[in-house]
Order: sequence, then structure tokens, then C-alpha cells
Amino acid sequence: METNRLSPTLAQALNKQMTNEAANAQIYLAYASWASEKGYDGIANFLFRHANEERNHMMKILEYILKRGAKVVVTEIPSPGPDPASVNDCFEKVFTSEVENTSAIYRIVEMSMAEKDWATWNFMQWFVKEQTEEETLALDLLSKIKVAGGASANDDALYILDKDLAQTADDATLAQDVSAANP
Ligand code: FEO
Repeated sequence: METNRLSPTLAQALNKQMTNEAANAQIYLAYASWASEKGYDGIANFLFRHANEERNHMMKILEYILKRGAKVVVTEIPSPGPDPASVNDCFEKVFTSEVENTSAIYRIVEMSMAEKDWATWNFMQWFVKEQTEEETLALDLLSKIKVAGGASANDDALYILDKDLAQTADDATLAQDVSAANP
């Protein structure tokens, strides 16, 4: 009796996305370690916390594949690449990687729609919302570094930014969550 409720195409795409999320966790871990070495403990703390979020995303997909009766394929994780050249570069790379991740999520949404696999489509909506949040968070980082002077931010500005990021919440407020009373 066939109990696998995922098509081979979607199972492969979800397994790939599971690895993407693991790779994202590695990126945040690498950048957090770089920031810590440079003495930016607030930025490091923020990035370490975010590495955990990425690992949770990975587990969420892994669990979903299992629950739908398909095979989980755990593979090697691509290297996060070279360290950032600066805080500005670090935040730009974070933003780029989140945008790439959003595109990968959208591709799976499209595939599930084409297959009329509404369970997967519904499951992926959580990730669509999460990516909006992640991009907002990454955009906020870019805004903060811009205010601090961008690529030429001085030590004082970076010191304040570092302190600020230690307090930054893990989740961003989305446009869909605001109201006239609570803008
Ligand atoms: Fe799991 Fe930052 O995307």
C-alpha cells in the first residue's frame, strides 16, 4: 500500500530546502563567530540566535517530509564561504542570502500549486510569512548600518550599533500585523 503522500519532485525539492536551511544556519554561525572575534558581541549574539532559528526551519521541513511518508535525505551542507569584510558587508550578505532563500521557498510554493498538493502549499505558507519577516529583519540591519555610516561607519557608531543589536528582537513586525491603533 502506498503511504507516501509527496511526489518525487516535491520530496526532492523539500529535501533540498531542508539543506538550504541548514546552510543558512551555518552562514549565521560563521558570521556570528566572525563578529565575536572582532569584538562585536551584540551583533554576534543576534546572529547566533538567528542560527538557531534556521536550524528550527530545517527541522520543520524534515518533520514535514517524514509526516507525509516520504524519505528524508540528509546530505553534506555547503560551506558558508569567506568571512565578511566588514559589518556592512556582513549585513549585505545576510540580506542577499535571505532573498535567495525566499526565491527557493517561492519555487516550492509554485511546484505545490502546479501539482495541486494543497497540504504542501499550506505548509509552505508558514515559510512565506517567515521569509517576509526575515527579509524585514535583514532590511532593518541594512538601515541601521546605513545610519551608522555604511561601509565607512566609524568605531563609535559601530559600538552603538553593536549595543543596539544585542537588544533587537528576533522577530520583525510585519505590515500585515499592524493596525491604525498599533502602527
Ligand atoms: Fe530560514 Fe532565514 O530563512
